[in-house]
Amino acid sequence: MRLDRYISRFVGLSRSQSRSIIRNGRVTVNGLKIRDVSLDVRLESEVSLDGTRVEAFDTVTIMLNKPAGYVCSRSESEGPKVFELIQGNFVDELSIAGRLDKDATGLVILSNDGKFVHTVISPRKKVEKEYHVCTELKVSDEQLTCMRQGLMIGPEEFSRPLAVERRGDKELTITLIEGRFHEVKRLVKASGNTVIRLHRRRIGNLLLPTSLEEGSWVFLDEESLKKITGAL
Ligand code: URA
Repeated sequence: MRLDRYISRFVGLSRSQSRSIIRNGRVTVNGLKIRDVSLDVRLESEVSLDGTRVEAFDTVTIMLNKPAGYVCSRSESEGPKVFELIQGNFVDELSIAGRLDKDATGLVILSNDGKFVHTVISPRKKVEKEYHVCTELKVSDEQLTCMRQGLMIGPEEFSRPLAVERRGDKELTITLIEGRFHEVKRLVKASGNTVIRLHRRRIGNLLLPTSLEEGSWVFLDEESLKKITGAL
C-alpha cells in the first residue's frame, strides 16, 4: 500500500493531509525518514509519525456490551451512537452485524469485514441469536404455545422462533435465526404480551462474557469468530 494511503487510513487523515505530513519529514518507515508519498509499505512495516508508531490493522472484529440508550446506527440522530463507545482508528470502517434497538442491551458484533458481517446477518447462514426477554404480563401457556408455533407479526410477515423457553413468570429466552426489524418485540406483542426488557446474550456459539461490562468492548480472536459462524 502507498505510504500516503497507509497514513491516511491508519492515522485517520485525508489523503492530502497525509501527503503534507510525509513531505514535511514527520514520517519514518523502518527507522528511516521518508518524504516519498508513493513508497510501497506493508501492514507489518514499522511506520511512525512524529516518533509514535502508527498501528495498522487489516480486518477488525469486536464485541460490545451495548448499554440501553445507544443507537446502532450511523445516521439516526436520536441519541448517542454505539460507535462513540469504541476507540480506535478503525471505528469509521466498522459495520454492525445485527442491530439492537435503542432500549435493548447486550451483545453487538461490529466488523470491517463485509463478508463476515453478511454471514452473521444472513438468514441463510442460520446463525442463532439468543435474547433474554422480560415481559409486562405473566407469560401464559397459551402465549408460549402460540410463539413456539409461530405468529403473524406484520401484514405478510410470519415469525417462528427456533426456540422459546420460559425462564420465570415474566421472563423468556427466545432464539431466532433471523433478526428482522423489532422481531422479538413484534412476536411477543402478537402473542398478547409486551416486551419491557430485551437483552441479547448469544450470537452463534459466542456468549456475551459476564466479565465484559456494559459499554465495554474487546477484539475478537480467530477462535471467537469461528464460534459465531459455526466453523468451530
Ligand atoms: N428484536 C427486537 O425486537 N429488537 C431487537 O433489538 C432485536 C431483536
